Amino acid sequence: MSKYILPVSVFGTAFGCAVLLQNYVTGGPCPSKAKIPGKTIVITGANTGIGKETARELARRGGRIIMGCRDMEKCEAAAREIRGKTLNKHVYARHIDLASIKSIKAFVQKIKEEEEHVDVLINNAGVMRCPAWKTEDGFDMQFGVNYLGHFLLTNLLLDKLKASTPSRIINLSSVAHVTGEVDFDDLNWDCRKFDTRKAYSQSKLAIVLFTRELAKRLEGTGVTVNALHPGVVGTDLGRHTGMHQSQLSSTVLSPFFYLFVKSPTLGAQSSVYLAVAKELEGISGRYYDVMTEKDPAPQALDERMSERLWNASVTLLGLNGQTVSHAHPTSQSAIATVSPELTKTNPVFTTTTSEPVKSTCLDKP
Ligand SMILES: NC(=O)c1ccc[n+]([C@@H]2O[C@H](COP(=O)([O-])OP(=O)(O)OC[C@H]3O[C@@H](n4cnc5c(N)ncnc54)[C@H](OP(=O)(O)O)[C@@H]3O)[C@@H](O)[C@H]2O)c1
Repeated sequence: MSKYILPVSVFGTAFGCAVLLQNYVTGGPCPSKAKIPGKTIVITGANTGIGKETARELARRGGRIIMGCRDMEKCEAAAREIRGKTLNKHVYARHIDLASIKSIKAFVQKIKEEEEHVDVLINNAGVMRCPAWKTEDGFDMQFGVNYLGHFLLTNLLLDKLKASTPSRIINLSSVAHVTGEVDFDDLNWDCRKFDTRKAYSQSKLAIVLFTRELAKRLEGTGVTVNALHPGVVGTDLGRHTGMHQSQLSSTVLSPFFYLFVKSPTLGAQSSVYLAVAKELEGISGRYYDVMTEKDPAPQALDERMSERLWNASVTLLGLNGQTVSHAHPTSQSAIATVSPELTKTNPVFTTTTSEPVKSTCLDKP
């Protein structure tokens, strides 16, 4: 027996250390046990990965879950599975393609018809390092889906969120925003040689800038907005990268993946935390690395840039057209230009500067 003691204890210690290290690296489970009966949660990209596990956990906690996906077959299957596993029958599949303005508007219309309130919006859907694809409306796919689509969705849902206060918006960014740059002369990669990695970083930086700008505009409304990096999670996100398809990653590197790449269930914990934690009530405009609040990259703190991006987004989405007063309750002076459609229901949807926006190289003289 004694000859086994040493190897068994070495193995046990190594295993224990691996679990501790994994917990440390991955952030562990959401510390809040809050239940959310009566709360309506809208999650985009909920048919797989982090979005699906977020939907599952929030359904388990008693929420009414609206899963927004572009593939209805996958969405219905995921919703059915979650209803079965959680015994929560209030889990619904709804169509949204964030690469289409028309689809986003149709989704919002349906939500407004069907839902009395929206308490949490989780802007989760994402595409990473795809080829130089364009959305239906001609935007770079990563900028269009990850950022612009969610910018539009959020603004169109703001009246619902404001009528449901205290309510929360959660934006999935990424640590990749750290290397991000926003090129206001060529937001959609129409002029430069396309770089799929930089396009992803730009879209994720845009999300943090949007989060901070929106938080300012929502001050005093009871709607909060925060951004997060979920950690490194083993999902389908890498489907366009060589690494995802290689034998090396599925065999030789898999033990390292166990330590440093977390499961979608663990990857969903930060979204769940920001959605339910009572201690985050009223907290807005912050960036969370997993579940720890951190400063985002310096360029994400640039207020001039966040305001400029807001204005550029309004222009790109064709939302200019009417002059309204600024949404901030204390501000009387600022003048803005926005779409009549949005301002009717969302006075927050305003711009505050007249800085010219050059959206594509076609705008160049
Ligand atoms: N995984 C990570 O390590 C990691 C790290 C940092 C940040 N994130 C962020 O976390 C979020 C979730 O990613 P994930 O890892 O769970 O990836 P995933 O497994 O690939 O899930 C992405 C989801 O977005 C959906 N989606 C993509 N394009 C869409 C569109 N045009 N309209 C509607 N839905 C669309 C996908 O739908 P289909 O299944 O139909 O394609 C899928 O449901 C993303 O925003 C990602 O950038 C992930």
